[in-house]
Amino acid sequence: MIIGIPKEIMLGEARIAASPETVEKFIKDGQKVLIENGAGINSLYHDEDYVAMGAELVSDPLDLYKRADLILKVKEPLFNEALGMHEVDMMHKGQYLITFIHPASPVNHEMVKKLAAAGVTSLTLDGIPRISRAQNMDALTSMSTCAGYKGILMAANDLSIFMPQMFTAVGMLKPAKVLVIGVGVAGLQALATAKRLGAITYGADIRPAAIEQAKSLGAKAIELGVPAEIAVAEGGYANKLSDEWLMKEREVLADIITDMDIIFCSALIPGKVAPIVLTEEMVKTMKKGSVIVDISIDQGGNCAITTPGEKEIKHGVMIQGIKNIPGLLPTSSTWMFANNVYNLVKYLTKHAYLVIDLEDEIIRSILVTFNGEIVHEGTKEAMGIN
Ligand code: NAI
Repeated sequence: MIIGIPKEIMLGEARIAASPETVEKFIKDGQKVLIENGAGINSLYHDEDYVAMGAELVSDPLDLYKRADLILKVKEPLFNEALGMHEVDMMHKGQYLITFIHPASPVNHEMVKKLAAAGVTSLTLDGIPRISRAQNMDALTSMSTCAGYKGILMAANDLSIFMPQMFTAVGMLKPAKVLVIGVGVAGLQALATAKRLGAITYGADIRPAAIEQAKSLGAKAIELGVPAEIAVAEGGYANKLSDEWLMKEREVLADIITDMDIIFCSALIPGKVAPIVLTEEMVKTMKKGSVIVDISIDQGGNCAITTPGEKEIKHGVMIQGIKNIPGLLPTSSTWMFANNVYNLVKYLTKHAYLVIDLEDEIIRSILVTFNGEIVHEGTKEAMGIN
């Protein structure tokens, strides 16, 4: 099988879907790997490192797309301005694509239809189920880990005070207080990072299991008062709260946010719009100079006044709505992403070729287009197809 790794074309995207290490593993498995020239440079993985592991460099992306049986990417296919052509139009019938497609999102519907029409078998990394046997393929978890860590560093950087308690010759400075709302994968990493920097940490979540994990990281638990039977859905995921329960949650949070220096927002119900846990009125009550990092911004944000992709001061509070935080940690995030993708390809490969077993739970939940059709349930529902 020929595996093609193009350079990402999304503006500012530094990551690449393979590391020299995973290229070496693919080649040991008997695959051929094509890498577009300079594709890893912004993650500090260099052409010569890939060549040393046995990859072939290709300068023309059209050539790479033409020759590959499987395309590995970080971001969904986009329009390539330099070539005046959509990446899907560079693909061909029978080719495989593995990347983050976010197929249910309306902005991607046309692209998903094009993938189906082109006869591409596409698999989306955002569909990997959070089950133990899929853990080493779960790129979303890897990227959330990066966002939790880097997001807290970004907040600390914008804070005008020390994070840890400081004893100096002129007196003691109190540690910063950090509240994480939504203690899932990203939130837990944010709590751990803030603790390591010496802050006093608080965790708020509607799932009792998440609160227990926050406590185990030394955070103080904020009791939101939502009964577990309302908060937790089948499989242990969070439920979407009704407006009444969300209002009650905001009432609890209103009392504590006035004392916080950093609020890290990472509350989400998979596949849904992010819940608004901070209103503009609530932001007005926060300390001047405090910082909100709203990482749920791709799903609309947890704070009502976050501007997508921007960093802005509103009511004296710095509100960060920076997208693609893992891309700001490109060497580590690429390393993790590349390993997740390698493990997925290995899982799908039988006798050196990809095999789509529709009975397999992992494959069923990541398969988007197959045999010329859109087969992903969440996407069909979002598109109104039965
Ligand atoms: P996750 O599903 O592991 O965690 C979300 C947590 O929010 C869960 O623990 C859930 O119980 C909790 N939650 C749901 N509703 C809540 C409510 N009303 N109040 C309090 N907690 C609530 O998700 P993960 O992987 O940690 O991601 C969190 C967010 O970060 C997502 O929106 C994800 O897309 C985003 N993200 C953003 C990145 C960026 O660069 N901006 C990068 C990676 C992730």
